Amino acid sequence: MDKVNIAIDGPAGAGKSTVARQLAGRLSYLYVDTGAMYRALTWKALQEDLPLHDEEQLTQLLERIKLELGGNEEAPRVYVNDAEVTEGVRTPEVTAAVSEVSAHEAVRRMMAEKQRMLAANRRAVLDGRDIGSHVLPDAELKVFLTASVDERAKRRHEENVEKGISSDFEEIKQAISRRDEQDANRTIAPLVKARDAYEIDTTNQQVEDVVAEIESLLRQLGETP
Ligand code: DC
Repeated sequence: MDKVNIAIDGPAGAGKSTVARQLAGRLSYLYVDTGAMYRALTWKALQEDLPLHDEEQLTQLLERIKLELGGNEEAPRVYVNDAEVTEGVRTPEVTAAVSEVSAHEAVRRMMAEKQRMLAANRRAVLDGRDIGSHVLPDAELKVFLTASVDERAKRRHEENVEKGISSDFEEIKQAISRRDEQDANRTIAPLVKARDAYEIDTTNQQVEDVVAEIESLLRQLGETP
């Protein structure tokens, strides 16, 4: 089978995972949620009470554990040492700690290596922050999703309300702006659009339309979805 790698990058809340999952499902490609990989390592590090600033201990932990993505694009699952942690990696504790873990250069190097192995010689959709710019610079198609801060805050707020989590729109908006600033300005793997990525603004767009637009880009590249 030919290799076709699709990189979907962008800031938090731009709709990456929803779009990437739906796209992978429609094309029957492998779906790789790279954020979940950082979250899984973070989950394990918290379990073991490791100091999150200690790069060496984190890389040793990553070498030691078996980290797997399973399930399918409709119900992706995350495993650490064969135990399912799909829900555990989404807790506020992990969300609060994952930025520190993912900022370590050696951790990123190892994760990127794992991600390249997952995508090698395959048809795969990977979503993350640095897939097109760093992990897979030769990806056949690179997409950079954006959405206004208001729209992203609205989505997150509605998600929370749906899940019955208490939620304050203004607070979320501020947190998103802060995170954008951090993501764009950090020295290690800042969030940047790869030069050859197609930027799609998902504000006021339905998921289906964004997916259709990416499929059309794929066709233009000569890859028949
Ligand atoms: O997309 P997410 O919220 O699950 O990502 C979790 C964290 O991992 C987030 O802080 C950004 C970081 N991340 C990263 O640095 N590089 C990636 N390729 C994917 C995620």
